[in-house]
Amino acid sequence: MLARRNAGRSALASIARLGRLQPRELRGPRTLEYDLVIPGLDPAHDGLKVAHLTDLHVGMLTPDRKILRAIAAAQAAKPDLVLLTGDYVCYSPKFVGRLAELVRGISAPCYAVLGNHDYWTDGEGVRRALERNGYAVLRNGHSEITLRHAPLSIVGIDDAVTGHADSKRAFAGVRKQGSRIVLTHVPSIADRAAAEGEALILAGHTHGGHVVIPRVTARIARKLGSRYLAGFYRIDGSLLYVNCGIGSSSIPIRAGAPAEVAIFTLRAAATDK
Ligand SMILES: [Fe+2]
Repeated sequence: MLARRNAGRSALASIARLGRLQPRELRGPRTLEYDLVIPGLDPAHDGLKVAHLTDLHVGMLTPDRKILRAIAAAQAAKPDLVLLTGDYVCYSPKFVGRLAELVRGISAPCYAVLGNHDYWTDGEGVRRALERNGYAVLRNGHSEITLRHAPLSIVGIDDAVTGHADSKRAFAGVRKQGSRIVLTHVPSIADRAAAEGEALILAGHTHGGHVVIPRVTARIARKLGSRYLAGFYRIDGSLLYVNCGIGSSSIPIRAGAPAEVAIFTLRAAATDK
């Protein structure tokens, strides 16, 4: 159902990443490109390119240059759509102004949902910072955009950690057929989203485990109720992607869960003729 296009780096690069230092981390986020067959996608949207960024965490622990490189990487992919899934700032409202500066310049239509750190910091301020740049913030609502003469529904479920999520309200009035993308900060909400029908569901929040101990991190996460840690998951007819995100909110170093910008090329399922 999906194929990763740049998965095969040289063995040497892989070995280098296993060590003490992650040179790629120091340079900035990696760009991951995927071809995805999306259930229910309108054939008119076959080939549509979507950039997904999450968990920028503008603040003391994420260098500005890392965020700027992430935005530049998304722009370089020439996406038709840019989607953001929350946690833009952390810890102090003083970072909200810097957020507005750092995310400036996305030229494709851009849609966002907020995350727990945004609400803990200054949810209204973050919303205004994004909207000042022309980006739409969906709070338990949807937007229908026409791309290539066909409608695409973008549904935004508000943050679940802070008790703002209302998936029923988010899906009210969303057309049942055609192309659908759902945004949620917290991946576990994907179960509720998938119950509303086939879609591509994008999430963040987990940082992919942030510092990953193979097998152990996933097991602990499951025990804490986080079944969806990083990457792709099939839920009923929907496809969930959990992005490892860009920044840090606790410790500045990541291991085993590098910062990423995800670029998806959407593909319609083949139909019998
Ligand atoms: Fe979060």
